[in-house]
Amino acid sequence: MTKDEKWFDKKMDRREFLKKAGIGGAGLALGASGASAFFAKKVMGESAKADGGEELAFYGEHQAGIVTPMQKNVYFVVLDLHSTDKAEVIQMFKDWTDYSEKLVSGQLVKEDGANSYLPPFDTGETVGLNPHRLTLTFGISPAFLTKLGLDSKKPKEFRDLPVFPRDQLKETYTGGDIVIQACADDEQVAFHAVRNLVRKARHAVTMKWSQAGFAALGNRKETPRNLFGFKDGTANGKTEEEFKEVIWCDGADWMRGGTYMAVRRIQMFLETWDRTSLKEQENTFGRYKESGAAFGQKDEFDEVDLDLKDDKGEPVVPVDSHVRLAKETGVEIYRRAYSYSDGIDEKTGQFDSGLLFISFQKDPEQFITIQNNLGNVDKLNEYITHVGSGLFACFAGVKKGEYIGQALFE
Ligand code: HEM
Repeated sequence: MTKDEKWFDKKMDRREFLKKAGIGGAGLALGASGASAFFAKKVMGESAKADGGEELAFYGEHQAGIVTPMQKNVYFVVLDLHSTDKAEVIQMFKDWTDYSEKLVSGQLVKEDGANSYLPPFDTGETVGLNPHRLTLTFGISPAFLTKLGLDSKKPKEFRDLPVFPRDQLKETYTGGDIVIQACADDEQVAFHAVRNLVRKARHAVTMKWSQAGFAALGNRKETPRNLFGFKDGTANGKTEEEFKEVIWCDGADWMRGGTYMAVRRIQMFLETWDRTSLKEQENTFGRYKESGAAFGQKDEFDEVDLDLKDDKGEPVVPVDSHVRLAKETGVEIYRRAYSYSDGIDEKTGQFDSGLLFISFQKDPEQFITIQNNLGNVDKLNEYITHVGSGLFACFAGVKKGEYIGQALFE
């Protein structure tokens, strides 16, 4: 425990805490001690080990937040780039690298100097909070490359997603140039990270759309259930071998070790679903609601058997079920979706809720093939509408001493 942590550990009340930090009452100007910094150093939570003390590495072969076991919260933001100056954009990624390293380890993005007439460098809302397994994942769209005159570096598989049957995309949730996915077991930690990263880059970017989401993790061992009450993520690969096969790009270009992120903001019509019989709900997926097992099987992770027939010779997994249509493509993706709930839809008076569908794959074609097969046929389409969309190239992991996306700019 550091000196600062010990100091905090002595259960002090909030007023005393603020006084010591120099922000109590008139302390906003100069603290009693004369120190004017908002926080020279971040003070972590009292129960440093127990509550959110676990910290995930920022540096590594691949970016974190992709095969990292899911955290409880996501704050997802898509940015528009307003600079065509490569040097400026490189500096932005260098700054983000520096900030990210600190954020994931629960430090302030920058320690304050002595001048209280300046705004604090760090916005401060995570002081007292641990890192809560924060991960930050960065990606760029095809439009980003075009804006910077880097079209020649665009891998051939990297193009905007095509229009899919039944798409009802809204401009508000579609497009953009840069994605930042912040995941953490604490909502405020995830939000704080995005807020401070965006704040640092205000000269070059504006926010296009964002989405906060949550996952029902329980004891973290079970597959989280989505808002239809079904376990979501069961069929995902679990081994390094499978990740290599499905997720990580292995070409010779700057995307080696990276992956493509497909994101869809999918509205789910909960009121309609809640009027649907259990039998019909299960037929929609081809899985049992309680256990998550595929039809004809017992356990959640038992292999889905598309060839199974009942006594009458009918397929056990319905021909229009979501799982059959996704699986029969023979193609795999890695899904890491979060539920969202954004209040009430003004027009319908119903919940504005759904799934921030996020999948990672080494080639966008994997997602496209599956989405095309779900197309008009998927029984699930009666209960959902895709309203937002994006495709982003998520860089390979960052090595210490390098910066996010370095291979692209070299
Ligand atoms: C709100 C929209 C969606 C919901 C509620 C949903 C829900 C589910 C559920 C409950 C399962 C079965 C359990 C599992 O393996 O995870 C599943 C499987 C799957 N879903 Fe979705 N899903 C949605 C959208 C999508 C989209 C847009 C795609 C891709 C284009 C997709 C691709 C898959 C795949 C590949 C599987 C695994 C099939 C298998 O091999 O068994 N899903 N989904």
